[in-house]
Amino acid sequence: MKLRLTLAIAIAVAACCPKTKTDVYLDPSKPLEERVQDALSRMTLEEKVALTHAQSKFSSAGVPRLGIPELWHTDGPHGIRPEVLWDEWDQAGWTNDSCTAFPALVNLAATWDRELSRLYGDCIGEEARYREKDILLGPGINMGRTPLNGRTFEYMGEDPYLAGQLVVPYIQGVQSNGVAACVKHFAMNNQEVRRTATSSNVDDRTMYEIYLPAFEAAVKEGGAWAIMGSYNLYNNQFNCHNKRLLCDILKGEWGFDGVVVSDWGGCRDDDEAAAYGLDIEMGTWTNGLRGAASDSYANYHLARPYLERLRDGRASVEGLDDKASRVLRTIFRTSMGEQHFGSFNSPEHYAAARKIAAEGLVLLKNDGALPLQIPQGGKLLVVGENAYKMMVVGGGSSNLKTKYEIIPLDALHEAFDGKASVVWERGYVGDTTTDYNKVVTGQDLSESRSAQQLLADAIAAASNADCILYIGGLNKSSGQDNEGTDRADIVLPYGQDELIEALAATGKKMIVVNISGSPVAMPWASKVNAIVQGWYGGSESGHALVDVLTGAVNPSGKLPFTMPIALADGPLKTERQYPGIREEGKQWWQEYYDEGVFIGYRWYSSKNVPVQYPFGYGLSYTTFDVSDVSVKRAGDGFKVSAAVKNTGSVPGAEVVQLYVSDVESSVERPVKELKGFEKVFLQPGESRKVQFTLDRRALSFFDADSHAWVAEPGEFRALVGTSSEDIRGEVSFKL
Ligand code: GLC
Repeated sequence: MKLRLTLAIAIAVAACCPKTKTDVYLDPSKPLEERVQDALSRMTLEEKVALTHAQSKFSSAGVPRLGIPELWHTDGPHGIRPEVLWDEWDQAGWTNDSCTAFPALVNLAATWDRELSRLYGDCIGEEARYREKDILLGPGINMGRTPLNGRTFEYMGEDPYLAGQLVVPYIQGVQSNGVAACVKHFAMNNQEVRRTATSSNVDDRTMYEIYLPAFEAAVKEGGAWAIMGSYNLYNNQFNCHNKRLLCDILKGEWGFDGVVVSDWGGCRDDDEAAAYGLDIEMGTWTNGLRGAASDSYANYHLARPYLERLRDGRASVEGLDDKASRVLRTIFRTSMGEQHFGSFNSPEHYAAARKIAAEGLVLLKNDGALPLQIPQGGKLLVVGENAYKMMVVGGGSSNLKTKYEIIPLDALHEAFDGKASVVWERGYVGDTTTDYNKVVTGQDLSESRSAQQLLADAIAAASNADCILYIGGLNKSSGQDNEGTDRADIVLPYGQDELIEALAATGKKMIVVNISGSPVAMPWASKVNAIVQGWYGGSESGHALVDVLTGAVNPSGKLPFTMPIALADGPLKTERQYPGIREEGKQWWQEYYDEGVFIGYRWYSSKNVPVQYPFGYGLSYTTFDVSDVSVKRAGDGFKVSAAVKNTGSVPGAEVVQLYVSDVESSVERPVKELKGFEKVFLQPGESRKVQFTLDRRALSFFDADSHAWVAEPGEFRALVGTSSEDIRGEVSFKL
């Protein structure tokens, strides 16, 4: 009895003695792993378990007793989500959390500019740090398998190399501020239809060649500190605790030492959550997305059920220590790492947003109608809802409350008022909503006119216009570019094709700006003078668009995905491929990636299917010549060189792209695959040499049988061009 009393007193004394600054775990100058082990050694079982699940909508516990702070998570990839109440999705109504809204990630992808991606990460990381957030829930890099995916706007296109090259600097930028990038959604989360109930069934070669490489780059080159498990299943195991993806590949093959966070409500099973690689269960309710008892956080799979399993031996303490170590490592890398202060709503951030938005705009057609010139005293007729509608609010978890959003119409008035009249006709009614999660735009999008009247008014207004500038496309509403839903087709909604055709039939000079986050059909392309692919450009969207339309910025964006002529031209031909089917004896929907590696331009170019505008395509107000393509051996790989020259009269940038073709291979390979790109800014007349390095991995396909990358001996071709279809020179070489 006496001994027990003595022991109890000793523990009580130890527990209450103040932390000394010399405690290793508190000292950011100490090696990370020593800090982790020191903290772990001081923690109780309950304290370790508390680290592994949410305590509120967007926070997971720290260790209060040891002065280890909780982790604050925040959406999203385009800006810092407004503060929410403890357990709500709706914004809390703070007055100091209106952020800089950066362009959608598809807009960043369209810049093909690694330096801009780093700038983007730096800026959004500064905003997260200033708002005292430790984990940024982004970037998203799921491949564009179908153009219908509602979240295409949040991702970086249809090619793993492009997404991988751009996600790395973004991550490094974010993390340079002591904020963890949480790369999502791991993996094969390529649609929104039944996203929490569909198993992505994909062969190893396809998975390793198409769906994993951008995540692999994020981990191995980007050094990502966090990964988000996705809602779907892979081979019928939920991805938030998928043994193959999280344990074998992510933490095994790739050596990921960071933390795996579930998507919100993506954790679906007690035993699997304990055993298969999930480190922090976040979400709304227990048991996945269904409702639960009050105080649901205590009922989370990694809360009470996990404690029970640890106490009765069904779950191992080693497993818990691994989870807890990864969470501690994240805390010591962020809030308890070297001090950063960030910044918020700075002029620099808005300037960066404007630069990125402008540099991602893609000039698809121009017969000379651009840059826009309106005669003094002339009339510019602007038609289309997207000239006026604010786009930062809505779309799902990437919804933002921004300090301001410059709409195209306002930027056009700024540019032309006093020189020409700018008249706006709505033309059609699309989405009249102006709020999301209690974030409101303040616009009034109500409309009393009929569709016929709206069209008639637009046509009538064209009669004395010098130029028609159509600004339409999609928006963030359900069934458009929106989380949780997919589109039904790529045809423009709201009768826009008819409206565009009617406006073109007036014979007036006409420019079309399509603002969307995903591909749309453009059957009227031959009937208009110029076409610009615009994106959700964030706070400075309108300024960026007008910068390009007026020539203040010479467009240099390139499509990060194919613009098909019609949806049916794509690789997904069966329900089994998309959106999935029911199968006898299987609880969840089943989707088969039968097209294999042939998605996007890999499909269209290999099957000789014509497209509206190809992957990697984009024009400039100047012209470029690419020549002198050559190749030489370099170590166990090759170096490909080319010269690029600005042959026009204004400064501009070209993206020189390198595609590789394996002429002789034992498996069917795409006729070309992107393996290099360089964006080169040149003065008129200036030329520069670009060089690409091809290592053996760049020449390889993934062989599932040997579970290895295989570069087969034989002939290869290096194709160098300015889009996937505009090859300006090629050379053969033998491996
Ligand atoms: C959502 C999204 C994810 C987001 C998370 C938190 O369901 O899938 O991208 O970060 O939940 O809002």
